[in-house]
Amino acid sequence: MNGHSGADAIALLKADHRTVEKLFDAFEKAGDDDLEAKGTLARRTCEELTVHAIIEEELLYPVAHKQLEKQNEIDVDEAYVEHFLVKTLIEKFDTLKPGDHGFDATFKVMSELVKHHVEEEESALFPELRESGVDLVALGEKLRARKAELMKKLDQAGSKLVGDRSLSFARAL
Ligand SMILES: [Fe+2]
Ligand SMILES: [Fe+2]
Repeated sequence: MNGHSGADAIALLKADHRTVEKLFDAFEKAGDDDLEAKGTLARRTCEELTVHAIIEEELLYPVAHKQLEKQNEIDVDEAYVEHFLVKTLIEKFDTLKPGDHGFDATFKVMSELVKHHVEEEESALFPELRESGVDLVALGEKLRARKAELMKKLDQAGSKLVGDRSLSFARAL
């Protein structure tokens, strides 16, 4: 590992991916009747995914679109479409509560979609970006700063939503 490899944009985004995968696993292991755990895990997953999607769309995908070879631009276009689908599923949790019919199914489909998307990013988009010569350390700094800002907003919104089990936090961002 060289001095900067822990800090660049790709390392940061991959760490986010691993965090979300752990949440998917924990949800799968939660007892069928443990609505408390399922609700908390779904909320945390949606928060992580929302912040991650925002920083990628604001800072990474535009750079990728500009820098990648013409034949690889399709990977960025597909990534935007997959994000759109994930966000549509996240919105369903505005009204779905743990124990509701469809709650587990929605979470499951969301996790499958995200796993597919992560696989595409890590096997195609990220390596292409690394080859393009973009300054990934500088980009990593920007991603980290924006993520910290969004997490702070989320904390502030969360403290106002205590007792509210919906996932309407996304509107606070
Ligand atoms: Fe993504
Ligand atoms: Fe990602």
